[in-house]
Amino acid sequence: MCKRLFILILLTTITSATVMGQKSQEMDNSVESLLARMTLEEKIGQLALRNGWTYNYDIDENVKKGNVGAILNETNPERIAQLQKMAVEDSRLGIPLMFARDVIHGYKTIFPIPLAMACSFDEVLVEKAARVSAMEAASIGLNWTYSPMVDVCRDPRWGRIAEGFGEDTWLTSVLGAAMVRGYQGDDLSKPGSIAACVKHYAAYGAAEGGRDYNTVTVPENELRDVFLPPFKACTDAGSATIMTAFNEINGIPATGNEFLLKTILLGEWNYPGFVVSDWASVEQLVVHGYSENRKEAARASLSAGCHMEMATTCYDEELKSLLSENGISIEMIDDAVRRILKIKKDLGLFENPYKKTDPELVLSDDHKQLAKEAAIKSCVLLKNSNQTLPISKTIKTVAVIGPLADAPHEQLGTWIFDGNKKDAVSSLAALQEWATQNKVELIYERALKNSRDLSVDFSEAVEAAGKADLVLCFLGEESILSGESHSRADINLPGSQHQLLEELNKTGKPIAAIIQAGRPITLEPVLDYCDAILYAWHGGSMAGPAITDLLTGKVAPSGKLPVSFPRHVGQIPIHYNHKRGGKPATEQSFVHMNDIPEEAAQLSVGNTSHYLDYGYKPLYTFGYGLSYSTFEYSKLELHESKIGKEQSITLQFELKNTGTVDAVEIAQCYIQDLFGSRTRPVKELKDFKRVHLKAGESKIIRMEIPASRLAFHNQRMEQVVEAGTFKVYVGGNANAQMTAEFEIITK
Ligand code: BGC
Repeated sequence: MCKRLFILILLTTITSATVMGQKSQEMDNSVESLLARMTLEEKIGQLALRNGWTYNYDIDENVKKGNVGAILNETNPERIAQLQKMAVEDSRLGIPLMFARDVIHGYKTIFPIPLAMACSFDEVLVEKAARVSAMEAASIGLNWTYSPMVDVCRDPRWGRIAEGFGEDTWLTSVLGAAMVRGYQGDDLSKPGSIAACVKHYAAYGAAEGGRDYNTVTVPENELRDVFLPPFKACTDAGSATIMTAFNEINGIPATGNEFLLKTILLGEWNYPGFVVSDWASVEQLVVHGYSENRKEAARASLSAGCHMEMATTCYDEELKSLLSENGISIEMIDDAVRRILKIKKDLGLFENPYKKTDPELVLSDDHKQLAKEAAIKSCVLLKNSNQTLPISKTIKTVAVIGPLADAPHEQLGTWIFDGNKKDAVSSLAALQEWATQNKVELIYERALKNSRDLSVDFSEAVEAAGKADLVLCFLGEESILSGESHSRADINLPGSQHQLLEELNKTGKPIAAIIQAGRPITLEPVLDYCDAILYAWHGGSMAGPAITDLLTGKVAPSGKLPVSFPRHVGQIPIHYNHKRGGKPATEQSFVHMNDIPEEAAQLSVGNTSHYLDYGYKPLYTFGYGLSYSTFEYSKLELHESKIGKEQSITLQFELKNTGTVDAVEIAQCYIQDLFGSRTRPVKELKDFKRVHLKAGESKIIRMEIPASRLAFHNQRMEQVVEAGTFKVYVGGNANAQMTAEFEIITK
């Protein structure tokens, strides 16, 4: 390189580094100088998140006065721009607004519900889907979404299980962080990047009895080991904001919970973003019976570390007098304002308050294609006797039956404020296209109006089944049966869907059931009526074409369950990573109540931990899912037999596609800490890989797991990796049988 060129490059590098240094200093300074110029009213204004639908409040007037920090649920792009203009041009300091919306699994292009997306075990896909959601949401000027939800949940009665990634802490952490990256991109200020809001901090998914908003009681070590890591993963991934939960934890509502907010999030984790309450959850401190009045609720929430109040006006009305009475300090208000301004800066709103993407990209073919890929990867094949699926080429007549075959609204799932059924392709529509192309006769009978319909005249459906070589029965739950405040105590198929299957089964025709639902349904009562079961969840806009590709064998199913499927609701909570207990049940120790002799002596059937009627196992365990192919795991080797606490264990194994079709297998590695100073779960997912294998192909798969991933909180609440023996399980679900052991040593 010539000397002059070298000097030029050097100078340019130095100059740009200096400029960057100056810029970041300027940014900080401008937050500080802004803060210095703000009146108390303007500061309190920044802490207000107003609902765009509020009619008894003059939003325009308040925006102009600088009394509003952010607005949610305004989706008219002209109105968004108008409000932003008022904030930027008419308010004294010109501080831009944030515009928020619940874009949970897509804006207009709707992806499968998060629980379904978790079946893909595919963080790249999940990140891309979040990116698409952000790009679409940003097309009307939105710059903040209330997602991802990373509430680990072990109770499928809870309606909001649909919104999270299931029962596993590690999987939830990986996918939650991927979503944050997708929404925020590599630079929040770019058009198409929006602020993420990880929620609901914390342990909201542990509501007693699976009833939404209910009390949560979780010991601190379990809170730290099971429920908090996904939040940590998302804040580490840079989530600009975090939302408190509605529930109380161990007697203290999350929104006023100093331990959760001040001690852990803002203290231990040193979180730099801002905390927003959930809808009216500041005011609800009074309803909880924790704060005596709204003023006390405002004091408790702000002091705990909740920076912005959603929907209600306790901060607005009470902070000023609280300050004058020394109930709170100005430092608390300043800290909250500083954090909010910083995120607005990061979003680039001071430079580009009207930042938007091109509306043309909404519902683009590429976006729909990604939604289809996501829906394909979300479906889990639970049962497939006699190779009922894929539909054989010899089949001439197919009966499509059931209330959810042609229900484009229902397939979208919960939280689709902006999705529209007219943009969704149903299974019936997609199957009809396939049938025409392949000269297959298709007969359609809805049989039931909807999933809750209680009618029992199935004569037309039975007649249709009688004429067909194969019955495809589309059952499940409408989208309104899951989601916020939509918990169920009975999670069987609702309405008379059970009876429908029973009647269809009497025809003797092979039946493949396609279940679309927002939660695991207890399928045991209908298991014998179906030859095959494809669990399709609520798969979003492109669920129909995705399901059709799977049913017809264009692609093999690859999804695996992110949550255990109980046999009966009475088994809940049932999750794979439970503790061993002192009297664990085994195959031999379990005696079903019908097999107990009359007047048996109390101890004659053994004392182990099981139910007399439903045993101790789920119907389908975590990680389970079939394919049209089969896989063989072999040759597990650990590269090390002993590792130090700072090191990693490397394992490898051979994975072979032993079937006749190309397919993807999600290989899973679980680890059990055999003995601990506190009892440890029987196993925990520690790594996974999606592996594509051609028919007959085998690959050597390697996984490297740092010892730090095996840490837990001991009795002194220290996060520790303990020395001792660890057992590795590798396989295609949580019942993985291939094992090896290694030791962690104290160096
Ligand atoms: C939900 C949140 C949501 C918020 C704003 C609340 O009812 O719990 O998840 O983000 O509303 O719509």
